[in-house]
Amino acid sequence: MKTVFSGIQPSGNLTLGNYIGAIKNFVTLQNEYKCNFSVVDLHAITVPQDPAALQEQSEAVASIYIAAGIDPGKANVYMQSHVRQHAQLGWLLTTLTSMGELERMTQFKDKSAGKESVGAGLFVYPSLMAADILLYNTDLVPVGEDQKQHLELTRDLAGRFNSRYGEYFTLPEPYIPEVGARIMSLDDASKKMSKSNPNPGSAIALLDTPDEIRKKISRATTDSGREVKYDPANKPEVSNLITIYSQCAGLSIAEVEQRYEGQMYGPFKKDLAEAVVGLLEPIQQRYRDIRESGEIRSIMRQGAERASEVAERTLQDVQKLMGFLPE
Ligand code: TYM
Repeated sequence: MKTVFSGIQPSGNLTLGNYIGAIKNFVTLQNEYKCNFSVVDLHAITVPQDPAALQEQSEAVASIYIAAGIDPGKANVYMQSHVRQHAQLGWLLTTLTSMGELERMTQFKDKSAGKESVGAGLFVYPSLMAADILLYNTDLVPVGEDQKQHLELTRDLAGRFNSRYGEYFTLPEPYIPEVGARIMSLDDASKKMSKSNPNPGSAIALLDTPDEIRKKISRATTDSGREVKYDPANKPEVSNLITIYSQCAGLSIAEVEQRYEGQMYGPFKKDLAEAVVGLLEPIQQRYRDIRESGEIRSIMRQGAERASEVAERTLQDVQKLMGFLPE
């Protein structure tokens, strides 16, 4: 059976962008692939995190995975730090990565821009991400558009390892949805919707109340036109809202356009808010049930145990190929 790996950082409240670009596809892929869905805490600490908040967000992300429909009987759900081999392989791959490659990463450039002091962890982040993926000889990596460059580096590192030490790693393919791979901010359609944006009005959090969702959508920026038309170059705000609608209501872009032909933005936004609420309410109900049940820790423990078996085998093989003395 082919293998999937993906991860989400517990570095803030998950947004509708995370759901549409990533989690939604995790749920679909779990039926056809051996899946590993991790909460990547080692990545989150590449920027400062408050310890209590990190703990809460870690449990929240894992619970959202389950609430969104990931079945722990099919997929491994676990904390990255609980499977120690991630950090170990991360180091080995860091030694194969060049400074120039890391300097070219746009996520690093964005996150370090204007900062006086930038942590070294933020710089080597992509090598750790490559380790996450390669530990499981992953075939497919469901991610949003912003992770594409990291995936390319992962493939380069896998190829470099194979040519230096012998064919071992599978070259993973990105799985980036055709629609919804880059959901934009509600207040600025030139920026992606992000859990780390300090303006709460910019993003719909998966745990926002129905009223918060309605308010945010009614205030979302549009344009001075009046056509509900998908045209990202000229109507980026409205196009983003159409994308969100299509993904939440299970309609194609053309179907959304047709439905609102000749109508103004007001009724479109109202229905959009109800489509988002309709999608998120049942997820939120399941989320509350999971948090109350206290089950998530044992789900993650079991996931980590199963993932560790594969991860340990890979690490041992890699160490042997690289010439490490056996223990
Ligand atoms: P993170 O935590 O920033 O985001 C998690 C996932 O959500 C996607 N995403 C979006 N998709 C569409 N529109 C948006 N506005 C949007 N914002 C976020 C991201 O592309 C991602 O798929 N480096 C990763 C975490 C990671 C990882 C991995 C992913 C670490 N190791 C190995 C895959 C495989 C990250 O920062 O994702």
